[in-house]
Amino acid sequence: MMTTETKTTDDDHVKIFDTTLRDGEQAPGFSMSTDAKLIVARALQELNVDIIEAGFAAASPGDSASVSAVASEIEGPTICSLSRLNVADIEASARALEPAKKKRIHTFIGTSPTHRDAKLKMSKIQILDKISDVVKFAVSVCDDVEFSPEDAIRTERDYLIEAIEAAIDAGAKTINIPDTVGYTTTEEILDLFSFLKENAKGAEDVTFSTHCHDDLGMAVANSLAAVRGGARQIECAINGIGERAGNCSMEEAVMALATRRDFYKLETQVKTTKIYQASVALARVTHNPIPRNKAIVGKNAFAHEAGIHQHGILADRRTYEIMDAESVGMPSNSIVLGKHSGKHAVASRVEALGFKVSKQKVEDIFPAFKSLADTCREVTDADLVKLVTGNGKTD
Ligand code: KIV
Ligand code: ZN
Repeated sequence: MMTTETKTTDDDHVKIFDTTLRDGEQAPGFSMSTDAKLIVARALQELNVDIIEAGFAAASPGDSASVSAVASEIEGPTICSLSRLNVADIEASARALEPAKKKRIHTFIGTSPTHRDAKLKMSKIQILDKISDVVKFAVSVCDDVEFSPEDAIRTERDYLIEAIEAAIDAGAKTINIPDTVGYTTTEEILDLFSFLKENAKGAEDVTFSTHCHDDLGMAVANSLAAVRGGARQIECAINGIGERAGNCSMEEAVMALATRRDFYKLETQVKTTKIYQASVALARVTHNPIPRNKAIVGKNAFAHEAGIHQHGILADRRTYEIMDAESVGMPSNSIVLGKHSGKHAVASRVEALGFKVSKQKVEDIFPAFKSLADTCREVTDADLVKLVTGNGKTD
């Protein structure tokens, strides 16, 4: 087993595959209507992510409708639908993706001993045969196919190689290596990606992808380690939402690569100044507030209360800040909205939160803003979003 890192000089672009609308939505308390999904998908389009996993078309008629709605409206990113490894699921994804300009089918099957024995009750050979047959079918209906050996991290390495080679041979273009249960460590996943890239036949013709869950709070660190091992796609979600403890947080992974470009020497094509408005949009449509201490987008991410820190920040922000709030699109924390604020400040903050509002709309909400401001020290972004959206509608 080798432990060296793969050199990254020939390919310095890391694709961002956002699964907020699929894995993210699978988390209890985060389900979204088609309208809600469209609001998030528009934010993802503005962010310029490479791929949007819009849902799991075969899961329900509603999910299929959401994938179709996103596929019809969103341009730029590739639109993806998840499918179990069977013909019916793949056909459902292909139908839902029909309107998309750029489309991808993502198909998966469990490969670890627990998944084979307890869930699928299938032998290793049966699973390999199914990968060959069904991935070939998927490729016949969609040029761009991604394959995931679910629970890859707990799959025997020699068998994982066989599963991956079967998928590559059948025409998959992206091989995703999920840490389905958030079990791996940074050293282990770096080593695994290096090993797979070096040993799987056809590895040089496909993009390797990482998909880490956060059960041990290591999803972002593990995703970045996978990138060091040669992954060139990160699967992630806004605010880190996803099954159980969540997925790799999109904003954390993107800002780690941007802030430590000196170390990773890799780029994403994400417009980082659109991060905060995407985070706020997701919080709004799912009714799950952004935790105050959340890295990158939490209210405290760029706030300073301790005297020594305030002193340092006033002298030079770099004493206690490694990025600018503005670089993630967070309205400057020096402007606090309260009872003395005017319409201009309210309008500019509302726009920074991603809403396009008319002068009349600002006039309309201003009396309610003033009444609210009279009752508190500060009108928060969440308060503003409630005022603008009123009964849930946006301008
Ligand atoms: O966590 C996981 O294994 C998944 C797969 C469907 C990629 O979400
Ligand atoms: Zn997952």
